[in-house]
Formats: sequence, C-alpha cells, structure tokens
Amino acid sequence: MSQDPKRYTITAALPYTNGPVHIGHLAGVYVPADIYARFQRLQEKDVAFVCGSDEHGVPITLKAKKEGITPKQVVDKYHEIIKQSFSDFGITFDNYSRTSAKVHHDTASEFFTKLYNDGKFIEEVTEQLYDAEANQFLADRFVVGTCPKCGNEESYGDQCENCGTSHNATDLINPKSAITGAVPSLKKTKHWFLPLDLYEPWLKEWIVDGHKKDWKANVYGQCKSWIDDGLRPRAVTRDLDWGIPVPVDGADGKVLYVWFDAPIGYISATKEWAEQTGKDWEPYWKDEESKLLHFIGKDNIVFHCIIFPSMLKAEGNYILPTNVPANEFLNLEGNKISTSKNWAVWLHEYLEDFPNQQDVLRYVLTANAPETKDNDFTWSDFQARNNNELVAIFGNFINRVIVLTHKYYDGAVPEASSFSEVDTATLNELKAYPDVIASSIERYRFREAQTELMNVARLGNKYLADEEPWKTIKTDEERTKTVMYVALQIASALAVLSEPFLPFTSEKLKKMLGHSELTETLSWKTVSEKENFLPTGHTIGKGELLFSKIEDEQIQSQLDKLQASKKMNEAANKTVTPQKETCTFDDFTKLDMRVGTIIEAKKMPKAKKLLVLKVDTGIDIRTIVSGIAESFTAEEIIGKKVTVLVNLAPRALRGVDSEGMILMTEDADGKLVFVNPDTDGIDNGATIN
Ligand code: 2FM
Ligand code: ZN
Repeated sequence: MSQDPKRYTITAALPYTNGPVHIGHLAGVYVPADIYARFQRLQEKDVAFVCGSDEHGVPITLKAKKEGITPKQVVDKYHEIIKQSFSDFGITFDNYSRTSAKVHHDTASEFFTKLYNDGKFIEEVTEQLYDAEANQFLADRFVVGTCPKCGNEESYGDQCENCGTSHNATDLINPKSAITGAVPSLKKTKHWFLPLDLYEPWLKEWIVDGHKKDWKANVYGQCKSWIDDGLRPRAVTRDLDWGIPVPVDGADGKVLYVWFDAPIGYISATKEWAEQTGKDWEPYWKDEESKLLHFIGKDNIVFHCIIFPSMLKAEGNYILPTNVPANEFLNLEGNKISTSKNWAVWLHEYLEDFPNQQDVLRYVLTANAPETKDNDFTWSDFQARNNNELVAIFGNFINRVIVLTHKYYDGAVPEASSFSEVDTATLNELKAYPDVIASSIERYRFREAQTELMNVARLGNKYLADEEPWKTIKTDEERTKTVMYVALQIASALAVLSEPFLPFTSEKLKKMLGHSELTETLSWKTVSEKENFLPTGHTIGKGELLFSKIEDEQIQSQLDKLQASKKMNEAANKTVTPQKETCTFDDFTKLDMRVGTIIEAKKMPKAKKLLVLKVDTGIDIRTIVSGIAESFTAEEIIGKKVTVLVNLAPRALRGVDSEGMILMTEDADGKLVFVNPDTDGIDNGATIN
C-alpha cells in the first residue's frame, strides 16, 4: 500500500457483553483506538471506526447461569451499559453494533457458507470433552485445566490467558468442567475445522518475513513463536445452544465458534454504518488502498493475527490488517484486574465519583499505557498526574493566558509588534509540534505523543515565566502585547492538538478561545503552517476551569473501595469446614474439658509428627501423645496453658498410652495453634463448659 492510504478501517475489540467495562479495557484498547481515529479524522482522512458488543460465546452463557437469567437478558443489560460508558468517555465509534444484530448473523453465516462451499473446511468427527452431569460438551471457557505450554492451572479450553497460547480443549492437562467441577469424559461429535496448518507457509511469509519491522515487538514475537511451533486445524463450530447456528445441513445444535463470528462483527458493524450513512462498505474491507487496523489487548493477538487473517485469506476477497497494535495488560494497585474479584475501576462508577473528569482518566491511562509491557494503575499516580501535570502545567498555562487577556485587553487578541528572538524560536518550536505528535501517533506510540502534547503546555508555561507579562505590563505595553499574542497562539495550538487525547478539554478550550467565531477553522495543518492562527482583534470567550485539584480524601475513598473488595474476596474464598450434625446437650456434657499446663515435652522417637507430653490437668499429671511436632519444638511448649479433653478413652500410640487430647486449631497458613482461652490466673483442673 502507498504511504497515504485512501481510507482507514479502524476496529476495536468487541467486548464480551458479560459485565461493564473498566479502566483496563479503556487503557488497552479503546483510548488508543480513539486517539488514532480522532487524529486521522483531524487529518481529514476517510475513517470507519467500528466496534460492538460480542454477545455470543461461553462468557455470556456462564454469566447467565450464574445470575439465573437468560443469555439474551445478560447481553441486553450489558450492551446498554457498555455503549453508554464508551459514549461517556468520548470514544468516537462511527458505529457501535452488536453481534446479535440481524446484519451480523447474516454476514457471519454467509462468510461460513462461502468457505464451506469453497471446500476450505475439514469436516471431522472427533472426541471432545463432555460433562455428563451437565449434559454439555465442554469447549472454551466451559472447561479449565493446566496449560500444556506454560503450566498455568487455570487455562481455558481454547486459550491460556497466562501465555496467550491458543489450543484445543482436549490439549488441557487435568481438565475440569467449569459448570459442575466434574472431570469430563470424551464423546464423539462432528465439527468443521479451519486447517491452519495449510496457511502456515503463507502466514510465515506475511508476518514473520513481512512485518518484522513495522509490527510491535510484543505482537510480532507472539506470532512468530506460534508459527514456529507449528499450527494445527482449529474447530470453528461448537456444540452449544447460544450463538449463530451453523448454516449447513446436519448441524443441528451446533453454532459458530465465537472467535469465528466475533471478528466478522467488524465487517457487519461497517455494513450497518454504511447502510445508515448511505456509504459503500466494501472498499473499507476489500480495497487494497484501505488501511485496516485492529486495536486489541494481548490476549486477542492470536485471533487477530493468525485465525482471522487466515479466514479472510480463505474467503479470498478481503484485505488483511496492515497492523495490529496490541497492548499488554493494565494492572490495578499491583494486582491483575479481575471482574469476578471486583478488582477493577468500573467506568460508570468512576464517573459517579469524578463527574465530568473523563479526560483525567483518559490522560492517566495514556500516560501509563501498557504499550510495551504490563503496567500498573495506582490511585496515587492518578492524583499526582492530575495535580502536577494537568492542573499545574496545562490548566495553569491556560488559566494565565485567559485571565491576563481579559484583564489587559478585554478579551481581544492584542497586536504583536516586533518578535524577539525568543518569540520567533517559540513560534517555530510550536509549529513543529503537530508533526512530532503525528509521527508518534502514526507509530502507535500514544504515551510519547501525549508527552509531546504536554510539552506544548510546558513551552507555554516557560515562555510566560521567562517573559513575565505581569511585570512588563507596568513598563512596556508593546512588549506585553506581543508576549500575550504569542501565548494565545500556544493556547490555541493546545486546543487543536489536545483533541485526540483530551477531547472534552479541547472542546472547552476551543470555546474559551472563541474558535467557532473564526473565519478559518483551525486544523492540525494550520498549527504547523502558520503562526498567526488566532488573529489580532479576535475576541476570546469566558474563562472556565479546565482541571481541578484532586484531594487526598477522594483518593482514600477509592483505596477504601478496593480494600473492601479485597475483604469480600477473602471472606468468599475462605473454605470453612461445614458444621457437623447437631449434638444434644447431654452429648456435650459428656465431654470433660479442663485447663491444664504442659510440664514436660519430648519427641517421640522415629515419629515426625508426635510429641510425648506430661500435662498437669489439676486432676493428675498424665501422659498425652500429641501430633504437633511439625508446628512446635518440645522446648517452646513447656509451661504452656492448654485445654485438655481429659475423659477421652486412653489409646496406645507407638506403644505409649495417651490419656487425653489437647485442643488445637489452625491459623490461615495451616500452622497449629493451641486453643487456650484467656486462662491466666485460672488453676489447672478448672472445668470448661
Ligand atoms: O476478549 C474479548 O473481550 C473478546 N470479546 C474480543 C473479541 S474481538 C473481535 F474479534 F471481535
Ligand atoms: Zn499457558
């Protein structure tokens, strides 16, 4: 393809519709994709930015089972919540569709049928994992087991989230049903397979030889390793009742594998958008002059770089992705984000706590984006970046420019007289920024791009601090006008260049600077070509606060929320031994428990676990053999007050008669602990009842 594509087809991973979206989604996929799409639109490029809800597949069915509702109810609920969150955070999809839409069912069915008719599948009866108790084949997330590649014990049937490998469910070691916990059996069933092995030479040429330089190292590395390991046929159908029915005879009860249908969702979303806007969808997917880009998280790499491209290649009429700029994962306060553990910052909840502060989150997530390695989101970093960067640098510069322009010139852009060397150097530096930022965005380096954007604000702050218009206003009116003129150009450039990153701020800033009143709309290009884009005499609008300080209490309350999740999880994960059968009061009174003191302790020869104790029970001094040698040394327990069951029938242990039992419990690490209620000052022999 030429350097300058005719159009951009930008896709963002279709989120599973089994829960709301969180900061990990935003940081990994949707903010970078949105920055890219907004940027290309600002270059006046033809863009189709599509996404939608991934409504099929096991994650949805599992959620429905858990909540006792239907899969349809699950997807209807979360589709709306997810869609709203994206819109609230300014993600500018041209279309946010859903895979339950008719256009998608039709498109996916047609795609499958074309491959089927062209003989691109292998039809085969194989043995698959089956849960007899649930009466269900166990594919994908219905089964967990040990990953054959990395040993992760919680790998799913189709993919290990730890090492990213994609495998067949029958490859798992020690598989277990996620529905009943049962060990599955094998049962024969017919499926259609895409013979990925046949595409291996082509994938090698296309990716390993063709994209070494332009694909991100993390993406290229994963692909190369899978291709080097050798590819095998992958089933593209499943025995499930939730999904798109397999559109061929003899496939009753079978649906398309969710990873076969979901990426086709990008195509259906483009079709739906084209229908709504009177465009033609085909060039976006079939014209070699289009640039197709998939924004995804690292767990989706295999599907977007190996499987979907092989499907497109098999179909024969489609273009392939030019790039797949996948990100790594974002952790939260040092731990993996987890929906089930509620270890997440949910977008809808964030907005309740930080209303109208979408840009702060967008900013922090980009500043800390997991572009080359997993990264960590911490609330203290969030606060610091807001207070020390957005408020202190960006907000401070704009505030000074707006306030001083109103104060000195009633809001009208003053006339610059002669530019000093510093002025010219500053304006030249400013003009270079659009290209600098663009170059980083074009290379998917969004963190770097945003740092350069902040450098524009830094340039403005430094300029004002050095030129001190608040001082020169008393001595040199002409100089002050020139300085304020230059500062206003910088502020205007910031309004334009910040749009992809901080769209709400950009909008406010444009309003404050009265951009809509200008005869020539300011564009990315204008900023790089002119130095007088905010002309003398133009009147700016009223000042508004762009960012406000985030206080310690706000951060503490977020940390408290996470702490509460941690406690809930700990409580939920505790396995408490179930209560025994009820005993009568008479049963209980038969037990004679006394306070005693260990007065002697010795290791039982040749027994790892046993100590032989002499215990003063108040009644007598007797021998008790106790299985506590792995938790205590003999020396450390001499003199210890204990609770003794004294009327337990004596029994011989390794030839020593044991005449009672010491009451023990275990701590969280499984270490034994004496059950000795506060017995200081209580005599041996005191009864416990
Ligand atoms: O990982 C996920 O959330 C998947 N639902 C992504 C699907 S991307 C695409 F292929 F649709
Ligand atoms: Zn693995």
